[in-house]
Amino acid sequence: MLRPDYRLNYHLMAEFGWMNDPNGFIQYNGQYHLFYQHYPYKSVWGPMHWGHAVSRDLMKWDYLPVALAPDGEFDRDGCFSGSAVEQDGKLVLMYTGHVVTGPDKDQDYKQSQGIAVSEDGVTFEKWEGNPVIGYDAIPDRVSRKDFRDPKVFRHEDQYYVVLGSNDAQGNGLVLLYRSEDLRNWTYVNVLAVSDGRYGDNWECPDLFPLGGRHVFMLSPQRMPAQGEAYRNLHSTMYGIGDFNAEAGTFRAEQYAQVDHGFDFYAPQSTLDDKGRRIIIGWMDMWESEMPTQQGHHWAGAMSLPREAVIDHDRLLFRPLEEVENYRSNLFEQRDILLTGEQIMETFGDSYELKAVFEFEAGNTDEFGLKLRVGGEEETVLSYRPDDGLFRFNRERAGIGPGGERRVPLGLQEGRLELRIFVDKSSVEIFIGDGEYVLTGRVYPGMESTGIHAFASGKCTIVSFQKWDIL
Ligand code: FRU
Repeated sequence: MLRPDYRLNYHLMAEFGWMNDPNGFIQYNGQYHLFYQHYPYKSVWGPMHWGHAVSRDLMKWDYLPVALAPDGEFDRDGCFSGSAVEQDGKLVLMYTGHVVTGPDKDQDYKQSQGIAVSEDGVTFEKWEGNPVIGYDAIPDRVSRKDFRDPKVFRHEDQYYVVLGSNDAQGNGLVLLYRSEDLRNWTYVNVLAVSDGRYGDNWECPDLFPLGGRHVFMLSPQRMPAQGEAYRNLHSTMYGIGDFNAEAGTFRAEQYAQVDHGFDFYAPQSTLDDKGRRIIIGWMDMWESEMPTQQGHHWAGAMSLPREAVIDHDRLLFRPLEEVENYRSNLFEQRDILLTGEQIMETFGDSYELKAVFEFEAGNTDEFGLKLRVGGEEETVLSYRPDDGLFRFNRERAGIGPGGERRVPLGLQEGRLELRIFVDKSSVEIFIGDGEYVLTGRVYPGMESTGIHAFASGKCTIVSFQKWDIL
């Protein structure tokens, strides 16, 4: 039997070696640049480099040479996550220098922030004055070692940067600094801090304006679950609120999860020249099994980029329109009355699928789709009107991690709209207008390409459309 290589068709993944967080996401000189945490020598995390890829449409990527390597005094054990900004036509990266200070590399370390500048968007020179924010700029009552992931942005003619940390008492927090020139920074304030419910350390913060408000997005470590939400070991969340740059405060009335699936972490946003706020995340999860690490020489991928749109007090996440340019081979069927399980007359492992279900609450127990079906393998998406939960189940998806994630959906009209992207070893499910997204990696066999629809009770698929995406 042929062994799948799990390499994705329309998602960015490590060319070789290891990939984690998206870094330095920016549109510069007409191209989208995406950097990423990268260890080029093995498919495991190691001293961090910045990998680099460019794209014209956020779908097809070209790899460029490694942009940063850990070879300086202040970053000798890793160039950790960070961001990008354009200054006087140059591309400036701001990132965390990681230094191990004792025998236990997981406990004994220090972190500070530096910059690197490029004239052509390909070669980067680290600034000789690094670090630009050293340990001495860490305020009192904040961790002396976790001080990382600068996300830099311009606001009212100044540069600001948010940095992730904790209070050394089990609460994640984010620090805000201000600068005129990206080289001299002044501490402003603790922008936001956990109240005990939101994890013990905050990574990869992001703060951006959207629809007249500000959105604060972050990745809390070891955050406890809240009902069906935040079920992964580490989470991603956002709050909508008001940013006071002068005082350095942000107040969110409430927080919500960014992605409700299994594999989505450390998202970063950028604003493009179409005015879109685009978010991309690492499509894996720390401490979760990654089957390509054995014998495949690569590990780690990025999610599809998504546009974030504000809708009253929440964000909607939608696939970008660029994806539609890659559609081919439309398979379409209407008004499929489901009685039991039905094998659809199409199949694949790299496609987009749109399905609109109509059901009668009270007369339908459960309905949904099975993807990547073959032999004993299946990835199951289903909805049960009685408990109002949508389920993404990868218990029998293939090799690799299993589990189920659920989101509560009140569907009064008896209608469920799904837009699903399947790509070799990934599934991303957009529900409704983008109210929820669930992302997960799956590792089925190469023959597991079947698509089934099923229902117990009364349910119709009013519209089913599937395109190959290549
Ligand atoms: C998040 C993270 C960051 C850090 C990077 C190291 O996934 O832990 O906080 O900068 O990964 O690779």
